[in-house]
Amino acid sequence: MVYGKVILSGEHAVVYGKMALAASISLGVSARVVESVGNKKNLLINKAIAVAGGDETIQIKIESELPIGSGLGSSAAVSAATIRAVREYLRNPINDDDLFELTMECEKLAHGNPSGIDASVVVYGGLIGFVKGKPVERLKINQPVKLLLADSGKPSETTKEMIELVAGKPEKNELIAQIGMVTKQVKQKLLNGLDVGELLNQNGLLLEKLGVVGEKTKKLSRELRAMGASVKITGAGGVKTGSGMMVVMAPDVVKIKQLLDNGQIDYFETMIGER
Ligand code: MEV
Repeated sequence: MVYGKVILSGEHAVVYGKMALAASISLGVSARVVESVGNKKNLLINKAIAVAGGDETIQIKIESELPIGSGLGSSAAVSAATIRAVREYLRNPINDDDLFELTMECEKLAHGNPSGIDASVVVYGGLIGFVKGKPVERLKINQPVKLLLADSGKPSETTKEMIELVAGKPEKNELIAQIGMVTKQVKQKLLNGLDVGELLNQNGLLLEKLGVVGEKTKKLSRELRAMGASVKITGAGGVKTGSGMMVVMAPDVVKIKQLLDNGQIDYFETMIGER
């Protein structure tokens, strides 16, 4: 199984060289080589088979618990799981560093110019501090953090489109700098075992200002915040329809779950920082 990821702080800013914090979640993707016809028309899977050294005779069966294109690293996890399965099938097992490099090749096909954060978390796992082009920093925290991940709806836009949208924002430099500062504080608080809810909210509001959160998700976020929750989207976001998964932290999770149930919004809980 290759696990998906959640970005706790710093998406989009990470594309501009700021640190982002991300962690693996308990849902993931498994892939195996099969004899029957598989997903041969999927460009991403074909690319992953090819970079792993497989040819067109190889078929892959994917089983995924991750919603596609919703900010949980599904494309990186599918690529990494496929590459690993093909290399095992070819009796040429792959190490993590090589798996990261090949997963990045696939990520470039899917996202244009990704920072590499998704590939890093799905390959190396755990809780990490990530700066584009630098070695991954593994963070060890004493107290794992419980998060609620709520589904604001699948974005209509791709990650690549959202990155381009941010690139065109005149006020992006200031907002990216602010997100970078918030992320540094989140890291310190996590390492000191302190609550990061308020900072999470700040990051969420900065992402709203950056223009990567749609109206429907902003409304839901306002309702959740009014009930004492801290909220941010995680991943690239989306504006036309859904904005993907949202990270929600709250002292009273029961009330929050009721609101989500009433609105028929899917959610699940995950712990980060355990591994
Ligand atoms: C996507 O999960 C995170 C973004 O920052 C893009 C990237 O870092 O490649 C939006």
